[in-house]
Amino acid sequence: MIIAIDGPAGVGKSTVAKLLAARLGYLYLDTGALYRAFAWKTLQSRIRPTDLEQVTGLLPTTTIHMQFHNGAIQVLVDGIDVTGELRTREVTAAASIVSAIPAVREWLLPIQRRIGRRGSVVAEGRDVGTKVFPSAPFKFFLDADADVRVARRHRELVAAGHGGTVDTTFRDLSERDRQDRTRSVDPLVPADDARLIDTSALSPDQVVDQMIAAVSTES
Ligand code: DC
Repeated sequence: MIIAIDGPAGVGKSTVAKLLAARLGYLYLDTGALYRAFAWKTLQSRIRPTDLEQVTGLLPTTTIHMQFHNGAIQVLVDGIDVTGELRTREVTAAASIVSAIPAVREWLLPIQRRIGRRGSVVAEGRDVGTKVFPSAPFKFFLDADADVRVARRHRELVAAGHGGTVDTTFRDLSERDRQDRTRSVDPLVPADDARLIDTSALSPDQVVDQMIAAVSTES
């Protein structure tokens, strides 16, 4: 049983996916963390994320593992725990760029599906309902007004000690939106059978309540 949650940055996907997974006793799969982990490797290797050939050349010698402990995720790149380094501004920007490279997406696909095979998973990302788990029985696509998303993301960054101004957050988020929605492979779009939820005026618990209601009515 897989529940797929997609949507743009700052919409509250991670918060909601974690809460939903905790309430149902499911595993929480943060697919963005895998893209971030690979982006970390490109930066660490001093490769520009826009250098298609060099980035693609890294794939055969890279290993990424995700470990799960009581709802918390730990990400290992080539055996190194990089969990604490995945949310920096540099890694965030690089993740959006490398995630537009088809070979990177193909490479991460079996990693995500292998985790999905554990069953009872809430998977969150940009293409989990359209590409990674197209036959997931429950799919949600979250959206929210841009100013609400910027405010949420800014609060998150400040809380995590990454700071920055609201203006910088607005610029970064708009650029990431543009890249995620317009890339040629697996762009951010709702799956045809996804339920759309506008989270602008809803608390995370209210969103989760709607999801649980949908899941219990239909299963
Ligand atoms: O959800 P996030 O902000 O951690 O994702 C980081 C980047 O990874 C995001 O800009 C786009 C990419 N991504 C993707 O292309 N497909 C996914 N399923 C998840 C993330």
